[in-house]
Amino acid sequence: MAEQPAPRWRLFFALWPPDPVRRRLRDVVSRLQGQVEGRWVRPENLHVTLAFLGSVNGEGRACAERAAERINAPSFDLSMDCVEHWRRQQVLWLGATRLAPALSQLAERLRLGLADCPVAHEDRPYRCHLTLARRVRRPPTDLVIEPIDWHIDRFVLVSSDTSSTGSEYTVLRSWSLG
Ligand code: 2AM
Repeated sequence: MAEQPAPRWRLFFALWPPDPVRRRLRDVVSRLQGQVEGRWVRPENLHVTLAFLGSVNGEGRACAERAAERINAPSFDLSMDCVEHWRRQQVLWLGATRLAPALSQLAERLRLGLADCPVAHEDRPYRCHLTLARRVRRPPTDLVIEPIDWHIDRFVLVSSDTSSTGSEYTVLRSWSLG
């Protein structure tokens, strides 16, 4: 019998919006969809990436999960209150004008914890962003939104599978903060 290939996952750590926050995000997306053209992230997929691990094998996944278990960090509040556009990358995203230092610390601790793991590593400083749409050439004219307040008391490990209908995300594990 042919040997099965070793499993691999495309993984990332993320903040995963609870249902009430996701409903608010869905509203923002619906409103902006009337103003701009782009490839919109499906509402059930909206998230804030903390660390992107790339395609990893079992060893990489186990190492990343051990790194997450070692995280000891407080819960915090994030107010997502601005729509931004990266022109070169053509990405429309939601951000926070008042960045929670606890968020940068969490991302930094994860990054340090992953340093010895066989996963992708990011050298650029962490930038909190929630991608709303890609391939957006022109930003909407009305960028004002009602702030979306989000109490962040957990982070998750997500696997991403690409199918003919787009990316399918599956939350594999979750860790509490605070
Ligand atoms: P972003 O959309 O928030 O920028 C899952 O693929 C998530 O990981 C994406 O939503 C993207 O986050 C992030 N991601 C994908 N490819 C990446 C890469 N090469 N480097 C860094 N982050 C990446």
